[in-house]
Formats: sequence, C-alpha cells, structure tokens
Amino acid sequence: MKFQGSQNYVATQDLMLAVNASITLKRPLLVKGEPGTGKTMLAEEVAQSLNMPLLQWHIKSTTKAQQGLYEYDAVSRLRDSQLADVEGSERVKDIHNYIVKGVLWQAFTADRPVALLIDEIDKADIEFPNDLLRELDRMEFFVYETRDLVKARHRPLVFITSNNEKELPDAFLRRCFFHYIRFPDAETMKQIIDVHFPGLKRELLTAAMKTFYDVRNLPGLKKKPSTSELLDWLKLLVAEDIPLEALQSKDDKVSVPPLVGALLKNEQDVTLFEKLVFMQRHNR
Ligand SMILES: Nc1ncnc2c1ncn2[C@@H]1O[C@H](COP(=O)(O)OP(=O)(O)OP(=O)(O)O)[C@@H](O)[C@H]1O
Ligand SMILES: [Mg+2]
Repeated sequence: MKFQGSQNYVATQDLMLAVNASITLKRPLLVKGEPGTGKTMLAEEVAQSLNMPLLQWHIKSTTKAQQGLYEYDAVSRLRDSQLADVEGSERVKDIHNYIVKGVLWQAFTADRPVALLIDEIDKADIEFPNDLLRELDRMEFFVYETRDLVKARHRPLVFITSNNEKELPDAFLRRCFFHYIRFPDAETMKQIIDVHFPGLKRELLTAAMKTFYDVRNLPGLKKKPSTSELLDWLKLLVAEDIPLEALQSKDDKVSVPPLVGALLKNEQDVTLFEKLVFMQRHNR
C-alpha cells in the first residue's frame, strides 16, 4: 500500500513520504498548512488512489469526541415507550436500538480497511483531541450503555487536519505523524494549475502567476491568497475572457488586477495594495 500522488492532486515528494510514513507507523497523519493548500483534498485523493472508502468527520466548535463513537438516543426511546404498540414495546426493551453509531464506530467495524478524515480538529474545544487519545491509539472503545467493547476489525487510515487555530496537546501530538504542507513554489503551482486548467494559454498562466505572487508577497497582508483562490481567479479570468494586457502593465509596474476580489478578501488588504500601486506610479 503506497501513495504515489494522483491525477487530480499534485503531491510533492515530501508529502508522499509523509503519507507513506504514517501508513507504515500505523499512526494518524496530522496535516497542517494554510487554508486552501489541499489538506482536505489529500485525504480524499489518498483514499481514492488506495481504493479505500473515505469516512469524513467535519469538526465544529460544538463537536464532542463522544459523537464520533456513539450517541444514546434517549429521547426516541422515551417517545417510543409512550406510543408503544406490541412491536414498539419490543423495540423499547432493547437498548441497542437506540445507540446511534458515530463515524469512528463505522470505521472500526467496516468490513474492509477504510480511510477516516477528522477535518479541522482545531475547531473543537481543547478537550476534544485528548478525549480521542485512547480510541485512536488502541483502536477500541467501550459502550457503557450496552457493555460492549467495540474493537477495530481493520485499523483505519486516519487523516487529521488543522488550521492551527488552537495548539494541540502534546500527548495527542506524540501519537501522530506530522506534516506541514508548505505553500507551493512556482513550479508546483504550475503543475496544480495544469491539473485544473489543462489547456490554459502559457502567456496568461505566466502573467497571472506573476500577479498572484506579487500580491501574495506584499508585506503586511492580513489574509494571503492561497492555491484555491488562485484557481478561482484563473477560472474567472478565463470565463470573463480577460485580455492579457489587463494583467501586464507595459512598464512592469504593479497594477490592481481585474477581479481582485477573488484574491484579496478584506478591504484593508485591497487598500494596502492600491496604496502600493499608487506609490510605485508616483515614485519613479
Ligand atoms: N496539491 C493540489 N493539487 C490539486 N489541487 C489542489 C492542490 N492543493 C489545493 N488544490 C485545490 O485547492 C482547493 C482547496 O483545497 P482543500 O479544500 O483541500 O484545502 P484545505 O487545505 O482543506 O483548506 P481549508 O483549511 O480552508 O479547509 C481544492 O479543491 C483543489 O481544487
Ligand atoms: Mg479543509
């Protein structure tokens, strides 16, 4: 079982190495990186290329670790007990009917190995990762209501992504293999663009990439545009049939690019950029 990139996803050598290391170590792969650098997509692509079903668990601020294991639906049981006919009362007696399986349970009991994505783990409260330590380590958990032990039939391939909004506890980090997806260099970015826009004109690609890296390298930006924003922007440039000249100024000075709203996402950044353009034009 080895991951070697895929047709839709450009994986750098060190990223492939990290995926394979986590498979070998049988530890979750913790992926960090700027928003839009392909963390979520990595799990989808690895699962697809290793031919495994992917179970996804998207974490929110209110998500609790227990929800990934199981939940006991006491409300339905109470309601059933009040309305119960003969068939219903049989159902009420058996508590198993009211245990709702979470994603981890499904992953543990699937009949073949699956990939499991725990997406944006840093959104949850600080206890969340700690609460999953044992389950991810030992690949088992206990259901108190039914006194069952759920053990993984096959160890799932676990991907965990984080946007670094919160620090993760050391005990949790110890159990993961870590990879930071660095922002793609120009060469890698070209490959990524090729995957999404195979027939893009070379001149447009070069001009758009220059503008993009100019914007991105502007010191003091609040939110730097990332891969997915560049792809959005290119899509617009193609759809609107923006001429090449609109991206290149003849004197090689920076200018505010068309449809800049795809790249810069707040007014301070747009103002900052406009100021720079203004200064360049007047300081010659
Ligand atoms: N290496 C890559 N190869 C191909 N496409 C990529 C790559 N990296 C990013 N993309 C494109 O960027 C988009 C965003 O990727 P994705 O949703 O995986 O980012 P993310 O890191 O999970 O972002 P967030 O932190 O905001 O959730 C993808 O849909 C894909 O189109
Ligand atoms: Mg994501």
